[in-house]
Amino acid sequence: MYIKKIELSNLRNYSSIELDLVKGINVFHGENGSGKTNIIEGVYWLSIGKSFRASDDKEIVKEGCDSCRVYSEAEVNGLDKMFSLEYSADVRKKVIRINNSRIKKMADVIGEIPVVLFSPEDIQIVKGEPVLRRKYIDQMLCQVSREYFETLSKYLKEVSHRNYLLKGIKEKKVSVSNLGVWNEQIKINGAFLIMKRFEAMQELNSLLASKLTSEKNDVSINYLSKNFMSMKFDDVIYEYENHFKTKIDEEIVRGTTLIGPHRDDIEIFYNGKNAKAFASEGQQRVSAILLKLAEGLFIRERKNSYPVVLLDDFSSELDNPNRGFIGRTLQQFKQIIITTTYPENLKELTPARMFHVEHGKVSLV
Ligand SMILES: Nc1ncnc2c1ncn2[C@@H]1O[C@H](COP(=O)(O)OP(=O)(O)OP(=O)(O)O)[C@@H](O)[C@H]1O
Ligand SMILES: [Mg+2]
Repeated sequence: MYIKKIELSNLRNYSSIELDLVKGINVFHGENGSGKTNIIEGVYWLSIGKSFRASDDKEIVKEGCDSCRVYSEAEVNGLDKMFSLEYSADVRKKVIRINNSRIKKMADVIGEIPVVLFSPEDIQIVKGEPVLRRKYIDQMLCQVSREYFETLSKYLKEVSHRNYLLKGIKEKKVSVSNLGVWNEQIKINGAFLIMKRFEAMQELNSLLASKLTSEKNDVSINYLSKNFMSMKFDDVIYEYENHFKTKIDEEIVRGTTLIGPHRDDIEIFYNGKNAKAFASEGQQRVSAILLKLAEGLFIRERKNSYPVVLLDDFSSELDNPNRGFIGRTLQQFKQIIITTTYPENLKELTPARMFHVEHGKVSLV
C-alpha cells in the first residue's frame, strides 16, 4: 500500500495542510521546529491510534483548538481507501472512519495502514532497557496479528490482576487458592506470546541476514529469557507450572509475577558482538534502523502489503557509506517518508518528491 494524500487539520503547528505524496522517497526538509516530525507523527497517529511521542492525545491538538483530524487517501491492493481519525480534546473522544464508515475499535484499524517508524529515540531499542525491546517486538506483532494484539492485552491485564492478588496475599487479605485460575490463563497466554515472538525473531534474523546486511554491518537478534530454556509450547507450560509451585513465596514477598514474556528481553548483536556493550553510537543507530527495516520487511511478508516507512531524522550522525547503505536497503520498500534538517545529507538517496517545511507551511520543491 502507499499513501497518496494526507491532510492534517489543527494538528501541532498545522492549521490545515494537504500533501500529495508519491511512491518512493518523499523528503521533508526544513529548520528545527518547522514541523517536519509533526507530519510523521500525523501519519503514525492515523495508523496506530496513538502518538509515538505524546503520552496524551491533547498534546497533539493545535494550541487554542478543541479538536484535530488526520485524513488520508491510500492505495491498498490496487483499490483506493479513505481513512480519517478525529480527536475531540474536551470529551477525549476519537472517531475513526474507513471509507466514511465509522469503526468502533482501534483494534479494527491497526494494520490497515501498516507503518514502520524510526525516530532518533529508537536508538534506545539497542542501548536502553528491556521494556523498549519488548515494545519493539510486540508492536510489530500487533500490526500483523489481531490474535497477538488481543492475547497481549488480556495477558497484561491478567498479570496485573495476579500481582494485585499477590500483594493481597502478602497482607493476608486474600487466600493463595485465588491464584489458581489466573495461573492457568497466564501460562497459556504467556506461552502463546513467547512462541509468536520466538517465531518472529527467527524470521527477522533471516530477513536481516538476507536483505539487510553489508560488508560492514551485520545485525542479528536472540530471544533472551531467564526462565525459559526451550521455546517449545509444552516446555514453556512446564516451566510456568514449575515456577508457580516453587517460586510462590518469593512472588508473594515481592508482590509481582516473576516469569513470563513481560520480563523477557532481546539480545542484539552487531557484527557478532553484543551491540549494547560493544557497538559505537553510529553502529547502534545503524542497528536500530536495520531492526526497524527488518520489521518493515516482516510486515510486508506477513500482510502481503508494503508498510509505509517513516524515517524521522535518520541521517544525522551516520557517515556517508552508512547513509548510502541505508538508502540502498530502502529500495526494497514502496513508500518512504523522510525528514531532515540537511537535504545534502541525503545525496546518496534519490528522492521522488521533496517538500520544504517552514513554520507549519509546506511547499513542494
Ligand atoms: N500542540 C501544539 N500546538 C501548536 N504548535 C505546536 C504544538 N506542539 C508542538 N508545536 C510546535 O511544533 C513545532 C515542532 O515541530 P516538529 O517537532 O515537527 O519540528 P521539526 O521540524 O521536526 O524540528 P527538529 O528539526 O528540531 O526535529 C515547534 O515549533 C512547536 O512549538
Ligand atoms: Mg523533528
